[in-house]
Amino acid sequence: MTAQLIDGKGIAGAKRLAMKATVEKLKSEGMVPGLAVILVGENPASQSYVKGKIRDCKEVGIYSELVRFPESVSEAELLDEIRKLNEKDSIHGILVQLPLPKQISERKVIQTISPAKDVDGFHPISLGKMMTGQDSFVPCTPAGIIEMLQAVNVQIAGKHVVIVGRSNIVGKPASLLFLNHNATVTICHSKTTPLAQYTKQADVLVVAVGHAGLISAEDIKPGAVVIDVGMNRNAAGRLVGDVEFEEAKEKASFITPVPGGVGPMTRVMLLENTLKAARNFFM
Ligand code: GUN
Repeated sequence: MTAQLIDGKGIAGAKRLAMKATVEKLKSEGMVPGLAVILVGENPASQSYVKGKIRDCKEVGIYSELVRFPESVSEAELLDEIRKLNEKDSIHGILVQLPLPKQISERKVIQTISPAKDVDGFHPISLGKMMTGQDSFVPCTPAGIIEMLQAVNVQIAGKHVVIVGRSNIVGKPASLLFLNHNATVTICHSKTTPLAQYTKQADVLVVAVGHAGLISAEDIKPGAVVIDVGMNRNAAGRLVGDVEFEEAKEKASFITPVPGGVGPMTRVMLLENTLKAARNFFM
């Protein structure tokens, strides 16, 4: 069997197009959604991600502000900027690009962002709401994964979803979100042995570790849906996921490519969360 590709790039593009019309309508009623992105330092990957986020905002008509700080910025200065943005009426979403330099506590930064503007969904209030099944900002990658499954009509309820990786950004929130969608969820991590014993049981396998080649075809149940969140550079400098794509696509029923799979969905969910924050502010 050759798997059907889940075209995250295409799905996200269609979502942005629809969103553009929504933003135009909001603007015509005097509501201009606004996102502030804070970038600290010169990390090339972070710079590239932030550039993409600002470009996405422009494309759909969301107002955006990029706030840059040098690598040496103090924690106090960064927290002050966040507090200012919390009070600013033209800004409805605040995103601080991670990782941050070591003199700055990511936890403090996340907890200083107003929960009303927490478009990353990383604030403990957002995560607590998600845990208790309340409406909240959902972290963009898990939200994007659910959206892409729905876009290709993969049913989630009743499925065994196995998630490899337990990060605060992807693995843990994804497990809650799938649970809220009535899946049976298993979370695997670096101490899970043998990993393949669990991954082979997955109807939906989500891999979010950051380790190229971690999952090969033999780790996958025939006909499984494979979602690859990994973004790694291989020896040739090419972007690859955590799954051996060429062999896995012969075993899976659906699979996400890297690039062009989960990444574009993550980006578009940030825009969705910004619109949600703006609607909450204005309405
Ligand atoms: N760094 C890598 N992914 C993310 C993300 O989703 N949000 C933020 N703020 N930083 C990141």
